[in-house]
Amino acid sequence: MSIPKGDSLSSEAVPVPDHDAFRSLQLKIESLPKELSAIPELPEKTVSLLPVKGQPRALLGTDSDAKPVRPTTEQSTDFTPYTAEIEEKLHHNRVPTPAEHPPAFVQPHAPYEVFSAKIFSTRELTKPGAQKRTFHFDLDVSHYPAETGVDFKVGGAIGVQAPNEFSMVEEVMDLLSIPCVARDRKVIVRTSGGRWPTIWGDDKARELISTRRDLLTWCSDIQSYPPTKPLLRLMAEYATDVNEKKILSYLCSAEGQGAFCELRTGPHVTLPQLLHAFPTSKPPLDHLLSVLKQLVPRFYSLSNDPHENCVPVDGCSRLIEIAVTVHETPDWRGGERTGLASGFFERQARKFLEAEAKGEKPDLRVPMFKGLMSNPLAREFVSDGPMLLIGAGVGVAPFRGFVQRRLRNANCANKVWVLQGVRDSLLDELYSGEWGVHEDEVKKVVQSRKGVGRYVQEEVINQKELCWFVINALDGRIFVCGSSKGMGEGVEKALVQVAMEMGNMSVQEAEEFWKLKKEAGQYIAETW
Ligand SMILES: Cc1cc2nc3c(=O)[nH]c(=O)nc-3n(C[C@H](O)[C@H](O)[C@H](O)COP(=O)(O)OP(=O)(O)OC[C@H]3O[C@@H](n4cnc5c(N)ncnc54)[C@H](O)[C@@H]3O)c2cc1C
Ligand SMILES: NC(=O)c1ccc[n+]([C@@H]2O[C@H](COP(=O)([O-])OP(=O)(O)OC[C@H]3O[C@@H](n4cnc5c(N)ncnc54)[C@H](OP(=O)(O)O)[C@@H]3O)[C@@H](O)[C@H]2O)c1
Repeated sequence: MSIPKGDSLSSEAVPVPDHDAFRSLQLKIESLPKELSAIPELPEKTVSLLPVKGQPRALLGTDSDAKPVRPTTEQSTDFTPYTAEIEEKLHHNRVPTPAEHPPAFVQPHAPYEVFSAKIFSTRELTKPGAQKRTFHFDLDVSHYPAETGVDFKVGGAIGVQAPNEFSMVEEVMDLLSIPCVARDRKVIVRTSGGRWPTIWGDDKARELISTRRDLLTWCSDIQSYPPTKPLLRLMAEYATDVNEKKILSYLCSAEGQGAFCELRTGPHVTLPQLLHAFPTSKPPLDHLLSVLKQLVPRFYSLSNDPHENCVPVDGCSRLIEIAVTVHETPDWRGGERTGLASGFFERQARKFLEAEAKGEKPDLRVPMFKGLMSNPLAREFVSDGPMLLIGAGVGVAPFRGFVQRRLRNANCANKVWVLQGVRDSLLDELYSGEWGVHEDEVKKVVQSRKGVGRYVQEEVINQKELCWFVINALDGRIFVCGSSKGMGEGVEKALVQVAMEMGNMSVQEAEEFWKLKKEAGQYIAETW
């Protein structure tokens, strides 16, 4: 990213910070305009952190004091902890610590609380050498609170409220020079509007109790969004080094618009990375929380049929299963860093497996909620009629549940087909051997990095008779699931070609054909 050199009257040389964190931003700055225009106003401070005075004894504890505080409804603060009965239901007989579970006001599924699901078991689905690692999880939802009319559904997706990594939160507090004694101390959080730090709440002013650590762990995203202008403007305000201030102001200005866009679309910059890059800028935490984005839940498709009977063991009578592929992005210190939620899952899986290897029975939790049970895959799944399931990578996971459900019904066993896109079947063919007795009849695997290398859409064309039969059959359905980056469009194009060849249609007619099939709920694509 290079900034054009101006003449010496309109621009000035700026000595740039000489350290790796600054270099990692890839800003190539030699000189900057002397005058900067259109620098935005300092963002409004919408959050205030105030000391708690005269709080009840239960609230004076540190992070080991796990009593959740009721979410506030009005402007007043409600200090009443939940009753033991509610806590037991919510938390599976053991109250999870604040490091394991979000505060009660983080409520993405109102009126229901986030549920602390115990990991019943986990395993790695991919083999060493796979380009992406994928883990399977069995989550114990035996005690998930009953909700009228809604149940876990085959093809549905649970929501997961994953925390920011402990070490990254600690690093942010170090960089902001927040004293250790203040990190877990209860504070009154007062907001002047918006939803934060709740998720589902109305847009309104709030007052509730939390700690600085909990707010940074559960409520604000510190790693997965590129820097925004309000954040850079706030950092410019508090930078005490004149050059850091100038560079940060430049990035907010009209003159720095190009550099700002490249910063946003270039390296994946985290909050701690930015604070390292401009070390003299230490905004007050409440002002910083006013500009950070909300930490939002991630969704994971059920990879089992949640109505399969689970043999009650160790107090668990109901399991849901998911497969999580670990997202990775380059880390500024070298190597890779993991995605926020998929990284959390990988850490939990590794802890679980290490404990198990030592013969221990770990009690590790995933904060989850029922999430999407009327998404296209869950909504359109039917228990009869021929079904063609097309998926790549972890996108194939929900189809395992579809096939499990269908294989329970002998009449349907010969009416399901799966086209699975993988890189190398020896390394990353997820759930190989777990689809039921007729797997080789039911499933065709297409490898993108073995032999000639093919994508799943090529197999769609090879299977044009099958596609045509399924989509024209009574109750026939074609489901597509996987990455939105290419796979979804690739499959759609292949299906258009199939309709042209098999139905003797023009491109426009074939596109219209699939549009109508989509509207009729027979062609269902869920890509992300
Ligand atoms: C309905 C539905 C069902 C899903 N089912 C599954 C499933 O069954 N299994 C599964 O594995 N996934 C599934 N997903 C995807 C899942 O919800 C998450 O999106 C995925 O795990 C990545 O989340 P993360 O928090 O790990 O990554 P994030 O931290 O959110 O990062 C995601 C991506 O953002 C980019 N990025 C990261 N940091 C930055 C930055 N600072 N600046 C700019 N860009 C950045 C990177 O490309 C990274 O890969 C599903 C999604 C939906 C909507
Ligand atoms: N319900 C849902 O919406 C849902 C459920 C589960 C998962 N997902 C999403 O599905 C995605 C799966 O990701 P993943 O990491 O497991 O796998 P991935 O990175 O998408 O790759 C899986 C396979 O697809 C291939 N591929 C790459 N580009 C393609 C293209 N244009 N057309 C067809 N195939 C292509 C890859 O080949 P190469 O690498 O060799 O190019 C690889 O063999 C994730 O984004 C996840 O969030 C969504």
